[in-house]
Amino acid sequence: MNIIAIYPGSFDPITNGHIDIIKRALLIFDKIVVLVAVNPNKRFTFSVDERVSMIRDSLKDYPQVSVDSTSGLTVHYAQKIGAKAMIRGLRAATDFEYEFQINNANRFIDKQIESIFFMAKHEFMFISSSTIKEMVAGGIDVSKLVPAPVWAKFNHK
Ligand code: COA
Repeated sequence: MNIIAIYPGSFDPITNGHIDIIKRALLIFDKIVVLVAVNPNKRFTFSVDERVSMIRDSLKDYPQVSVDSTSGLTVHYAQKIGAKAMIRGLRAATDFEYEFQINNANRFIDKQIESIFFMAKHEFMFISSSTIKEMVAGGIDVSKLVPAPVWAKFNHK
């Protein structure tokens, strides 16, 4: 059986917290599609193409992982590719309410697609894409918190 999951998010940019979730999810799923989802309520630092290419470069050693983007609903994307599950990470109780709400909306659309939540490891609990960008703007070295291609992109910018 080839069990596919999608991992949707903004990934503006992808961090080591996200990478950790993907590596752990690979122990369960045969194939993971990291899906850059366009969220109309957010302003992004990196374009969709930049985000997709940073994720591809960061996960090039994982042939079971592919990367794509969508401006539609994540559930529709999952249906289109035959994915059984949607992966999300939980860092703190504050993530829960938001995830609970999205999960209910997604279930309303298609209850066959299950959401699976991974608890972030202690060392990644404080990371978010915004925190990373704030630290970079303040001159902090975040090379231990993001994959090498993302760090290179920050230095380039
Ligand atoms: N490690 C590090 N950071 C993490 C993390 C982890 N494990 N898990 C979440 N985050 C951070 C992200 O970096 C991001 O930080 P930021 O707010 O500082 O940028 C934040 O948590 C939330 O990010 P994300 O998981 O990307 O959520 P989102 O709200 O931007 O997007 C989607 C969530 C893409 C799943 C949602 O917008 C979506 O589904 N959009 C498509 C439309 C749709 O289908 N809607 C649902 C049904 S109506």
